[in-house]
Amino acid sequence: MPNTAERQAPPKDSAETRASDLLSEMSLSEKIGQMCQVNCNSHDLHQQIRAGEVGSVLNEVDLDAVNELQRVAVEESRLGIPLLIGRDVIHGFKTIFPIPLGQAASWNPDLIRHGARIAALEASTHGVNWTFAPMIDITRDPRWGRIAESLGEDPYLCSQLGVAMVQGFQGEQLAAPGSIAACAKHFAGYGAVEGGLDYNTANIPENELRNVYLQPFKAAAEAGVMTFMSAFNDLNGVPTSGNEFLTKQVLRGEWRFQGFVVSDWDSIHQLSVHGFTAGDKEAAFEAANAGVDMEMASRTYANHLAELLHEGRLSEQDIDSMAYNIVLAKVRLGLFENPYTTPSHFPALLNDEHLQAARETARQSCVLLKNEHQTLPLSAEHLSSLAVIGPLADDPYEQLGTWVFDGESADSQTCLQAIEAQVGDSVAVHWAPGLESSRHRDHHGFEHAVQAARDSDAVVMVLGEESILSGEAHCRADIDLPGAQEHLIEAIAATGKPIVLVIMAGRPLTLSNIIDKVDAILYAWHPGTMGGPAIADLLFGLESPSGKLPVTFPRVVGQIPIYYARKNTGRPPSHESITHIDDIDGKAAQTSLGMSAFYLDAGFTPQFPFGYGLSYSHFEYSDIAVSAEHAALGEDIEISATLYNAGGCEAVEVVQLYVRDLVGNVTRPVRELKGFTRVRLGAGEHQRVSFTLRSEDLAFHNRKMELVTEAGQFHAWIGGNSDAELWTHFELHDNGAGV
Ligand code: NOJ
Repeated sequence: MPNTAERQAPPKDSAETRASDLLSEMSLSEKIGQMCQVNCNSHDLHQQIRAGEVGSVLNEVDLDAVNELQRVAVEESRLGIPLLIGRDVIHGFKTIFPIPLGQAASWNPDLIRHGARIAALEASTHGVNWTFAPMIDITRDPRWGRIAESLGEDPYLCSQLGVAMVQGFQGEQLAAPGSIAACAKHFAGYGAVEGGLDYNTANIPENELRNVYLQPFKAAAEAGVMTFMSAFNDLNGVPTSGNEFLTKQVLRGEWRFQGFVVSDWDSIHQLSVHGFTAGDKEAAFEAANAGVDMEMASRTYANHLAELLHEGRLSEQDIDSMAYNIVLAKVRLGLFENPYTTPSHFPALLNDEHLQAARETARQSCVLLKNEHQTLPLSAEHLSSLAVIGPLADDPYEQLGTWVFDGESADSQTCLQAIEAQVGDSVAVHWAPGLESSRHRDHHGFEHAVQAARDSDAVVMVLGEESILSGEAHCRADIDLPGAQEHLIEAIAATGKPIVLVIMAGRPLTLSNIIDKVDAILYAWHPGTMGGPAIADLLFGLESPSGKLPVTFPRVVGQIPIYYARKNTGRPPSHESITHIDDIDGKAAQTSLGMSAFYLDAGFTPQFPFGYGLSYSHFEYSDIAVSAEHAALGEDIEISATLYNAGGCEAVEVVQLYVRDLVGNVTRPVRELKGFTRVRLGAGEHQRVSFTLRSEDLAFHNRKMELVTEAGQFHAWIGGNSDAELWTHFELHDNGAGV
């Protein structure tokens, strides 16, 4: 039976009482109606709403139409229950922020919270009261198109940033105008689909599931996210939209989640396509039995729940729980008091403050991966001409990225526009797209581009992926720069002009073919509406880049999955223990090449590690200290180090703390992120940076799936990326008090 736990508890507050009272007035068909989410183009939608057959509508954002839907629900349905209006507001509504993976590169929860707040305000203006975000699927596979929507590979970073998004969307008061319900999705394991292929199967041992993939969901539940979305994928043989273990046992049983769960689009019907159920009726049973309260798009609940109840396979309590969870959310959101939207109650869409926030987020999202010979920042004073080359330099649509339903390219400011505005008349800008799009292979635009480079002192190339190359169902098996872009780089590099490569992409790309051919690389992801000005700010040094990678960059696709928090193995690789394929000597003996976990042709290190990112300054770390080398379980440990800005300009550094638990009941990762903070320092300034580690922060699920912190030895590193070298150690001992 689904979701009975919280229904047995007596109502605690007036929202619960009100939802219970309403439930007692509802007929069976009205209860089932609440569980049905229909698309806005559904046939005879008003009549369905009037008849109490709809709990939520998705994808209607025309305000008059939304208000009319609400009017029909409130004034013409028997009980007057308002509608949840759902929409994928993934990285902004009209003001488009960088894709979530880009936002994650800011490592700035405050900024991300603020961006989500703005998105919520703008979406509210159009009557949206529920967003299907944040997507907090951990993913370690850049082939997966939806990595763009993710917050990266790490459970700690993803938890911190995902919670910030939830807070931003839901605001301080759920019932206040401008607060919209958030949705933690996709529960769970969707980011671990085999081969990085969307919709594919995920097989994740329970221990790994709990220690990695469920962490951000648990954090979101604890932060009060109002809704969860089940996923498309099959997890360990049980599709997640009918997975009792996930939804009933973990989410409601262990985490005491009080909100409601919506299926992903059609995913209840698809239980049969998976081969998990024989037909829609069984699919409806499995999903309801697992605790999925609302069905998105498919009609198995509408068509079969009543029958399942009459047959005694579902109980009245099951049905009541599902309807109650949904109605309670509506009460909490204040929809009964304020079903309608008045745009004048909200700030203007795309207002200056929103645009500035998007610009700042895009600035903080960019990651400087390479900067030889201090090519960056460019100085308008020292340049008389600049070539701007590449299909993404002046494409207002592609810079917005995936999942943009409501943002418009007419509002985007491109790199070319921003560079021209930045340099004014003093620098001649020679613009050439080179290629029609990122995918094109036709070289006919090369000549013009090469000429532009020859005529200029320096070159900014803006390459990468169009937005359609990432996102749902848009996976790539080869993640090099697509089309003829590598050839374009070669052609421009042959001019000998300094090249700054700006990459806009929805995923990490493999850059090994071109990395040595350019002088600087600024990774801008898909930066959104204000991408152009943000990138120009960084290129010309108005601000130093400060982004850090939220995901490891492989050298070649065959290294995937590659992530920093790997296990040590019994034969860990080292630079001394490996041989490159080109260095194999004659008929070498099997053992002479090194017997450790490495690839003969790709070694064991990534192109860029998690947490990596340069600035225009240079930071040094020293004097790491630990408050106690020996402490009892349950006592806090302070770990600190000195950060010194040894470079020539003010900049921000994201200081990161990593920990390794040396011995565990189950093997522990070689490093795990346990803290981070952004620190701004002027040239020559230094600051002590300190992190507090609680014993709970070191907890993990052991072989029995218990959440424990074990006594023993720990190593800790503080530094600017996951390869940080400055380290210390401490030991926790068990004084019997437990944690
Ligand atoms: C399918 C996607 O997987 C999900 O993330 C999205 O929210 C729904 N469609 C609704 O558009």
